[in-house]
Amino acid sequence: MQLYPPGKKELFSALLKIRPSSLLLISVVFSMISTELIVMPMSIYFHGRVTSDFFITGIVCASVVSLIVCYFLINLSGRVLAAQAKFKTLFESATDALFITDFTGKLIDINRTAYERLGYTREEMLSMSLKELDAPEAAKKVSRRIEKLQRYGHSVFESAHISKNGGIMPVEINARVMEYGGQKVIFGVARDISERKRAEKDKDTLLREIHHRVKNNMQVISSLLNIQARHIEDKQLLAIFQDCQNRIKAMALVHEELYQSNNLSRIDVKHYIGALLDGLASSLSRKPDVALTVTVDKIFFNIDTAIPCGLIITELVTNSFKHAFRKRERGEISVELRQDGGVFNLMVKDDGVGLPDGFDVENTASLGLQLVHTLAAQIGGTVEILSGRGTEARIVFEEVRSGTQAL
Ligand SMILES: Nc1ncnc2c1ncn2[C@@H]1O[C@H](COP(=O)(O)OP(=O)(O)OP(=O)(O)O)[C@@H](O)[C@H]1O
Ligand SMILES: [Mg+2]
Repeated sequence: MQLYPPGKKELFSALLKIRPSSLLLISVVFSMISTELIVMPMSIYFHGRVTSDFFITGIVCASVVSLIVCYFLINLSGRVLAAQAKFKTLFESATDALFITDFTGKLIDINRTAYERLGYTREEMLSMSLKELDAPEAAKKVSRRIEKLQRYGHSVFESAHISKNGGIMPVEINARVMEYGGQKVIFGVARDISERKRAEKDKDTLLREIHHRVKNNMQVISSLLNIQARHIEDKQLLAIFQDCQNRIKAMALVHEELYQSNNLSRIDVKHYIGALLDGLASSLSRKPDVALTVTVDKIFFNIDTAIPCGLIITELVTNSFKHAFRKRERGEISVELRQDGGVFNLMVKDDGVGLPDGFDVENTASLGLQLVHTLAAQIGGTVEILSGRGTEARIVFEEVRSGTQAL
C-alpha cells in the first residue's frame, strides 16, 4: 500500500475522470501546432504544395496523437498534483499525530499535530528518532517493536512520548509497514490517551474504594455477631455464630485482597488462602494442637471464583478443626490447590477420625457440606469426599467467567 505520493492505480482512476471538453480543446490546439510544424512541411516536401488530402489526413492523425500526448502529459501532471495536495492536506490536518519512520526508528515525515503536540518544530522533530521521542520505559522497547512490525506488518500498542518540556504523554500507537516513495517504511498513528488513562485511574480508585468499603461493612457485620455472641451461653449456638463470622471473614478477605493489590480484577490465590487459613487457625485455636500445611500454586482468580473457593476451604477446614480430632491431642490438616492446565484441583485432608459410619455426604441436613456442594456447583466443580484414616475432600473445577455467578 502506498500512502503519499499516490500510486499508479490512483493516477489511472484520476485520468479516467478528465472532462472530455478539456481534452477536445487541448487536442485541437495540439493538432493545429502539429499541422503547422509537421503536416504542412511534409506535404510541401512530397507534393511541392499543400494538398487537401494530405492536409485532412494529417490533421486527423495529428489530433489523435495530440489527444494521446495531452492525455498523458498535461492531465496526468495536473491530477498528480491534485492528488498529492489532497493527501498532504489530509496528512497535515489529522488530529492524531502521524509519523513515518525507517526501520531504525529515524523519523522521515511527520504531520503538524505530531510536532506541535510535543512542543517541537518540524525540523527539530525530524532530526530525532523514535527512541529520543519515547519516554525512557517505552524507548527500551522500540527495537523489539520494530522487529515485530517487520515480522507481522501491523501492530497496535500503548506507549508514552516525552514532550520538549519533559512532560510524559501516554499514547496508543497503530503502526503499519507501508511503501513510501518506493521504500518500505513504518507509518504510525499516535493517539493521545491521557484522558482515557485518567479515567481508568479514577475508575481504579473508585473500585478500590468500593472494595475497601465492602470489606469494612463485612467487618462491621462480623463485629456485631461477635458482640451478640457475648450474650450466648449455649456452646452449640456460640459455635454457629463463630462459623458465620468465619464465613463473612472469608468473603471480606477477598475484598481486602483486591483493594490492596495492583490488579483490581485478579486475586493472588496463594496469598488469599494463606491469610484465610491464618485467620481460621487463630479463631479455632482452642482445638487440639493442629499442624496446618498449605500448598498452593501461583494462581490468580477473579472474584467470582475466589469467593466460592475461599468459602469451600473455610467449611472443610472448619470441619477438620471441629470434628476430626475429637479426643485427640494433635492432628494434621493439609490444604492443596494445584493448577493443571485450565483445571484446578483443590484438596483438603486431615488425619482425624473420619466421617461417622454410614454418613451420607450427599444428603446431609447440616449446612456446612451442603454449602460445599452448592458452592462447588457455582464454579462448575465436582466434589468427592473420601473417608478412612481421616477425611479427604477433592474438588475439581475451572475458573468461572467474571460476572456470571451470584452468591
Ligand atoms: N473432617 C471431618 N472429620 C470428621 N467428621 C466430619 C468431618 N467433616 C464433617 N464431618 C461430619 O460430617 C457432619 C456434617 O458436616 P457439616 O459441615 O455439614 O455440618 P457441621 O459441621 O456439623 O455443621 P455446620 O453446618 O455448622 O458446618 C459433621 O457433623 C461431622 O459429623
Ligand atoms: Mg461444618
